[in-house]
Amino acid sequence: MVRVLVTGGAGFIGSHLVDRLLDGGDRVCVYDDFSTGSRTNLRSAAELEVVEGDIRDENRFAATVGDFAPEAVIHLAANASVSQSCEDPLLTHSVNSRGTLVVLESCRRAGVRRLLYASSAAVYGQATKLPIAEEDPKTPESPYAIDKLAGEMYLRFVVDQTPGSAGVAMRFFNVYGPRQHPDSPYSGVISRFAERVAAGRPLRIDGDGHQTRDFVYVGDLVRRIEGYLRDKAFGFEVANLGTGVPTSILDLVRGFAVAAGRTPEVQHGPPRVGDVRHSCADAGRAMASGWRAEVPLAEGLSRVLSWQRAQG
Ligand SMILES: NC(=O)c1ccc[n+]([C@@H]2O[C@H](COP(=O)([O-])OP(=O)(O)OC[C@H]3O[C@@H](n4cnc5c(N)ncnc54)[C@H](O)[C@@H]3O)[C@@H](O)[C@H]2O)c1
Repeated sequence: MVRVLVTGGAGFIGSHLVDRLLDGGDRVCVYDDFSTGSRTNLRSAAELEVVEGDIRDENRFAATVGDFAPEAVIHLAANASVSQSCEDPLLTHSVNSRGTLVVLESCRRAGVRRLLYASSAAVYGQATKLPIAEEDPKTPESPYAIDKLAGEMYLRFVVDQTPGSAGVAMRFFNVYGPRQHPDSPYSGVISRFAERVAAGRPLRIDGDGHQTRDFVYVGDLVRRIEGYLRDKAFGFEVANLGTGVPTSILDLVRGFAVAAGRTPEVQHGPPRVGDVRHSCADAGRAMASGWRAEVPLAEGLSRVLSWQRAQG
């Protein structure tokens, strides 16, 4: 049993992680401002504490760390919208960069020894080769990606300053699954497609649909995060969290046709400006621990569609 504080624990990824930790018998504290997360994502459990707060609020966050005394902090809270970061870079910077520093510094002062940080494949920008390995060039192309990379560097700094501590910067690729809302400005293509398939509306593809992404099912992702939580290694590590399998947008359309039992109508629009053409993780580092993505895309799409239909 571990005492774990999860920032952003009421969000899409965070709430799946919290469920898994509670199932494993851990004591969990969620720290969330509920800006995009929801209490309905969280189950009631004696082992779960929920604190409503902003990670930029130094006093409140430090007091929460002091009261809960976590052995590990998993930092997921962020403004996760790439497009919003381009429109309002100062807001994203205050949450994703300064907020991250507040979290890390509070943990350092309180002696928290294990820190897991949600970074993003966005730090790579346009890939120079595929699959993308952790040491490949980083050319972040949005304020969101720049701040995520800065967060990794702050994490490394804090781990270097704290002997006996461990920190992992986890570069998530395209995470999908139930509870990812299609209506937010940063929603993934899978949740948007699921909403349209459920409503019998045409799917809209930006460009020719041959662009590829590495889609990782949220249940697989949180299994790996849990692995880092229980790992005994010290020091700083960076790891891609993706499947290593590229999937095109047209593959998704075919997958939804199978999941729904009928072929959805497709409309093509112009390609999105600045869109990365191909993205796929070299997942070797994550897989060296024995971890494998287990949920096949067809099964994952079917689960997302069922969840979407249940939303009414
Ligand atoms: N979903 C993906 O495909 C993906 C890919 C790469 C990286 N990530 C990263 O994973 C993390 C989780 O993403 P998600 O998809 O679950 O997004 P999400 O928006 O569902 O979750 C973010 C959570 O953080 C909370 N939050 C936001 N600002 C906060 C603040 N100032 N103080 C306290 N809480 C705050 C929100 O209320 C929400 O519960 C983020 O750091 C995101 O950048 C996600």
